[in-house]
Amino acid sequence: MSGALPEFELVVTEARSVAVDVLMLTLRAADPSAGPLPEWLPGAHLDVRVQPGVERQYSLCGDPADREHYRIAVLREPDGRGGSEHLHAHAAAGTVLTARGPLNHFALVPPVAGARYEFVAGGIGITPLLPMLDAVSRAGAEFVLHYAGRSLERMPFVDELVERYGDAVSVYAADAGRRLDLGAFGRELAGVPDSAAPGFVYCCGPARMLAELEAVAVSAGWPASALHLERFEAREATEPVRHESFEVELELSGMTLEVPPDRTILDVVEEAGVLVLSSCREGTCGTCETPVVSGEVDHRDSVLTPAEQESNEVMMICVSRAACPRLVLEL
Ligand code: FES
Repeated sequence: MSGALPEFELVVTEARSVAVDVLMLTLRAADPSAGPLPEWLPGAHLDVRVQPGVERQYSLCGDPADREHYRIAVLREPDGRGGSEHLHAHAAAGTVLTARGPLNHFALVPPVAGARYEFVAGGIGITPLLPMLDAVSRAGAEFVLHYAGRSLERMPFVDELVERYGDAVSVYAADAGRRLDLGAFGRELAGVPDSAAPGFVYCCGPARMLAELEAVAVSAGWPASALHLERFEAREATEPVRHESFEVELELSGMTLEVPPDRTILDVVEEAGVLVLSSCREGTCGTCETPVVSGEVDHRDSVLTPAEQESNEVMMICVSRAACPRLVLEL
């Protein structure tokens, strides 16, 4: 469970602009005697405390084999909640940041020669895909990257990717009149996940792109295991399964709490003095993941896959609720 993840301090060794409004930060342990940084695999993200009380998640986009450094890229979002603006304004060599993780809810199915991968990125969504492309390419697996953005100047790493992977990269810059047609992409891929070689589609980008690709996957009949999505934004909220209060039994703390319809489990549990780590509080980061002992869950997060939600083993208590009168959690 993420609640066990320790915090550590990182110091910025380099802050460099890699596209319009995109700042890449290279980080190392602030304590030089701390040993190698925690391990990670492609798809992982880091929780970064940008300012006191403000945590943001950033995909790791460097080399997992480099245990001395982490690398993240931060898109400046003037209409966001202020975290990215703060980093753009203040992060420079020597800045110390508190971090937790890495966590991975977007893991790459281990590449094997002969497998086929399709990567779809929208803008800053390229970041978690960079180490994936590297891993897949090293393994000799076949892959294609579809990379879309508003303009080339706003698409980080586009030149390096084209130089490195050549024809495997298709670039769609909207201001040059090239748009990624996901419907056509789906038709082209029809049958790929069912073919002799396993097929995997990984996508990270804006919510609209993810929703469109999900619809393509459904209409093409891809198995759920073929499509892997990383969300930066929460899914649109749907009606909860239950509109009444429900009880939550905290097995380890020996408490039973009532969760009213207008409050989250996380709020109620925190108020009772039980320590649970949280970060985004909107179901996108996975930090508040909590094991479920029994009961039916109304999963409302944007992290777990449909299969993980169905297995009911864990839930994100910042947004998910009970679909029954009483839930028992390992808290
Ligand atoms: S705090 Fe981020 S998923 Fe719950």
